[in-house]
Amino acid sequence: MHLALLALAATAAPAALAQGDAARGEAIALHRSQGLCVLCHAMPGQNPALQGTIGPPLAGVGSRLDAATLRQRLVAPEQFNPETVMPAYGRSTGLQQVAAAQRGKPLLTDAQIDDVVAWLATLR
Ligand code: HEC
Repeated sequence: MHLALLALAATAAPAALAQGDAARGEAIALHRSQGLCVLCHAMPGQNPALQGTIGPPLAGVGSRLDAATLRQRLVAPEQFNPETVMPAYGRSTGLQQVAAAQRGKPLLTDAQIDDVVAWLATLR
């Protein structure tokens, strides 16, 4: 009984990661006051003159990294590089230089992060 439940939980996890909406995720990634990923990353299909080069290009990232790693990149980028300049999108504590109106709120909600992960996974 317990084993069956565990097996169910294990198979449910990847499905939960895949629940985001890729089109919404792309809009969030481009949005000036939401993701603004394009500030640091080249994104496929965008004007090359308006793309940052601080981070690696995101083209093909969906084949390089699995969904769990993509999500982790967004919520805890410092786990990959302690000195990273990439914002921790899902966190509301332990941040520096946060504007008053934004204090106590994450940059992106859990659902928005699911959408961005779904979009990143399509970049093959
Ligand atoms: C202020 C700059 C900055 C912003 C904004 C930013 N990133 Fe990053 N990102 C980086 C840097 C720099 C790296 C390289 C690893 C590191 O130093 O953290 C990175 C790494 C990544 C990686 C791993 C890429 C790979 O090929 O290994 C992903 C995925 C990623 N970012 C996605 C995003 C998404 C999606 C957004 C927007 C929601 C975003 N980033 C916003 C700077 C940024």
